[in-house]
Amino acid sequence: MDDAAALSGAADTEPATAARRVFIKTFGCQMNVYDSERMSEALAAEGYVETADAADADLAILNTCHIREKAAEKVYSDLGRLRDIKRERAAAGKRTLIAVAGCVAQAEGEEMVRRAPAVDLVLGPQSYHRLPDLLGRLRNGERALVETTFPDEDKFQALPERSPARSVAAFLTVQEGCDKFCTFCVVPYTRGMEYSRPVVALVEEARRLVQRGVRDITLLGQNVNGYHGEGPGGEATTLAGLIRALAAIEGLLRIRYTTSHPRDMSDDLIQAHGDEAKLMPYLHLPFQSGSDRVLAAMNRKHTAAEYTDLIGRIRTARPDIALSTDIIVGFPGETDADFEATLSLVRELRFAHAFSFKYSPRPGTPASTMDGQVPDDIKRDRLALLQTVIDEGYVRFNGAQVGRRLPVLFEKPGRHAGQLVGRSPYLQLVHADADPAHVGRIVDVEIRAAGANSLSGVICGQT
Ligand code: 5AD
Ligand code: SF4
Repeated sequence: MDDAAALSGAADTEPATAARRVFIKTFGCQMNVYDSERMSEALAAEGYVETADAADADLAILNTCHIREKAAEKVYSDLGRLRDIKRERAAAGKRTLIAVAGCVAQAEGEEMVRRAPAVDLVLGPQSYHRLPDLLGRLRNGERALVETTFPDEDKFQALPERSPARSVAAFLTVQEGCDKFCTFCVVPYTRGMEYSRPVVALVEEARRLVQRGVRDITLLGQNVNGYHGEGPGGEATTLAGLIRALAAIEGLLRIRYTTSHPRDMSDDLIQAHGDEAKLMPYLHLPFQSGSDRVLAAMNRKHTAAEYTDLIGRIRTARPDIALSTDIIVGFPGETDADFEATLSLVRELRFAHAFSFKYSPRPGTPASTMDGQVPDDIKRDRLALLQTVIDEGYVRFNGAQVGRRLPVLFEKPGRHAGQLVGRSPYLQLVHADADPAHVGRIVDVEIRAAGANSLSGVICGQT
């Protein structure tokens, strides 16, 4: 048997009625988490049950992320492990299918099966509804299928209805793709042009989630505040309009959204932060760099002063809003002075939270071939310093909650007996001793302590 034949595994001899097991590993952003859930639901309709053990799986799916090199490379090391499992299972007469989904699949396509011949299926993010059909073809003996076109049909419509909620909080993808073309970013290439789902479909999906116990929905999109979906009467609807339509759903208690671009932070959305009670006071708004020169080279289409002014307007509408951001260090040409500008913006704007990254050149993006690539040791030092400043802000923000009463939406039992864990309006994890009947409800908690990653307190009225 040649190597490729060994990798394709044994014939599919299991009876069609036996439950097949699927292992799904998700990398990267929340949109991938949502997509993995929808794939799992599509597969459940085909008789698959999920397993957390890859060695036990008839089908292993890696739902991948291409945003930085490290994330993409991780996929290949996982594929090495899956290849070994596939061999071992084949020796025991069991067939294993390996599928790669997500943005690495989209970006690498055919290349992926060449580099990792154990892979049976390469599936781009727009094709998940084709999964059952493609698996059928693989079982019928076809090999190394690659499905990375951008079909114009609506994959969301073709996916089956949502299955029972796993949690009080759920994601809902409302928009996909991005037309912004920041020069460092692969998203416009891997996820394609912006597409917004229609309002009616989203209200319907949200309603079903609420019927199944969901109370907190985070609206997802690569550029979510650029949302411009079709409204019930055919009119273009903004994200603020969508949020107001969703807020009318009885039983839905909290709405959040991520990720946004400063240029699309429209006045009606800012206003919604001021007057829509279900819209939570938390906003993730990446600024990437505090230097105007770097921002221009990144094609961000805003300056540091414009970003600061925008934050001022948002804080006027909702003074207690918690802000989070994304920052890149070591973009090509970034000098010490540029980096200092980033540090001072972080200090000035008092973020509750921030994600920081070393610039990672991505194939096919304009920045990857720019002059002035920054050496890795400088990137590393800048990242370490930036993270210290970010952590100071994080500790300050969490510490400021001690002594306050926060409405906490309880999600599940905590680690200790009698304890529940939930979220504050500002997305902080909160632990408190509470009756399990409080899961799915908002209860006032007096915050007594702030730890490294969470708050703890007591339910008001209890001591
Ligand atoms: N290198 C480093 N960070 C990146 N991001 C996107 N592309 C890159 C890259 N090539 C970061 C941005 C973005 C977040 C999701 O990932 O900060 O907002
Ligand atoms: Fe990438 Fe976000 Fe820029 Fe779009 S707006 S290109 S997703 S960083």
